[in-house]
Amino acid sequence: MPEADLYELAERYRPEFPIFRSAVYLNTCSLGALCRRARAALREFADLWDRWGAAAWYEHWLAAAQEVRADFARLVAASDEETALAPSISAALASVVSALDFRARPKVVTTELDFPTVVYHFLARRDLDVEPVVLRSPDGVSVPLDAFAGAIDERTALVATSHVYYTTGAIQDVAAIARLAHAKGALCLIDAYQSTGQLPVNARELGVDILLSGALKWLLGGQGLAFLFVRRQLGERLSPTTVGWFGVEGQFEFDVGALRLRNDARRFEMGTPAVPTLYMARAGLRLVSEIGVERIRRRVASLTEDLRARALDAGFSVRGAGDAAARSAIVMIEHPEPAAAVGRLMAGGVIADHRPGAVRLSPHFYNTTADNERAIALLSEAGGRARGR
Ligand SMILES: Cc1ncc(COP(=O)(O)O)c(C=O)c1O
Repeated sequence: MPEADLYELAERYRPEFPIFRSAVYLNTCSLGALCRRARAALREFADLWDRWGAAAWYEHWLAAAQEVRADFARLVAASDEETALAPSISAALASVVSALDFRARPKVVTTELDFPTVVYHFLARRDLDVEPVVLRSPDGVSVPLDAFAGAIDERTALVATSHVYYTTGAIQDVAAIARLAHAKGALCLIDAYQSTGQLPVNARELGVDILLSGALKWLLGGQGLAFLFVRRQLGERLSPTTVGWFGVEGQFEFDVGALRLRNDARRFEMGTPAVPTLYMARAGLRLVSEIGVERIRRRVASLTEDLRARALDAGFSVRGAGDAAARSAIVMIEHPEPAAAVGRLMAGGVIADHRPGAVRLSPHFYNTTADNERAIALLSEAGGRARGR
């Protein structure tokens, strides 16, 4: 698809996002912008609650949960049986970790660029003698495959890392990491929160065992819903000990005589899902699918390169992968006072975010080069260029 058509795509969908009437929104990697369809879905949820009360569970909400599992399954090229819902990535991790046996294989390999919650789950399991290995990043952008290869061994239970690093936007070679893990008999868990919705993700082709994501960022669905992909045979083999009544066979038989976990990924589900978010997430997921993630990737890749170029032209340093193919739409502009700079952007009508040492901008398909121009102009006016690295 030529560039002009991709631009029209943004123009076409932008009216779906009222926030652009009052602001330039460039912070999707924290929270996707609210679309009209998600707001309408929320209203639909409330109307159903009003009309049916608890009967809405059987008439609508359980079916909606299944639709959302199926929508996520399609997004990552998995089957419905391989997908489950959780309230957050942290909660999903808790139930996955509870299924692992660390006695023969105490090591878990992760990295300093992964989201803290991923690392915390293993730091917290000192009681099980878990040995977390937190790989360092030599350039502060990514972790070389060699470092993974050197750390994974026959004592490794799990390699847990990200598809896209939230800290730098760098895209990891997940397929290669999964191969390294499997070569030593370890499992590979991927935190794909920052990739699903902005990059094509095919869980099967990537060869991962477990993949986690959530609704609120690039999938435009709001807070309170995360997704798990658990590779088919594994969903039967791994038995979580952190469990709940949504994960058992015959959920509505209320049998306390025995724990019969489901034979699929849903054995990792625990309790009542956030139904308002289910409705919003279904709307967001469907909007993303309607556009198509391949098209979104082309669009955001071009916006990312445009943003980088503008920042560099304005004299800023940009932290990110050296190779454009390994760059996602999280653009880290180095800054000595990022919080103050984001405040200046906000005062000028641009909503952005910051992380230590950098202003973070993250364009989605609804953004335009004019948004980038505005953000960099404001950033330049505020000063704080820090050329160097
Ligand atoms: C890559 C990544 N993983 C995990 C999380 C945290 O997920 P949760 O709050 O659902 O536990 C975030 C939140 O921003 C994230 O960016």
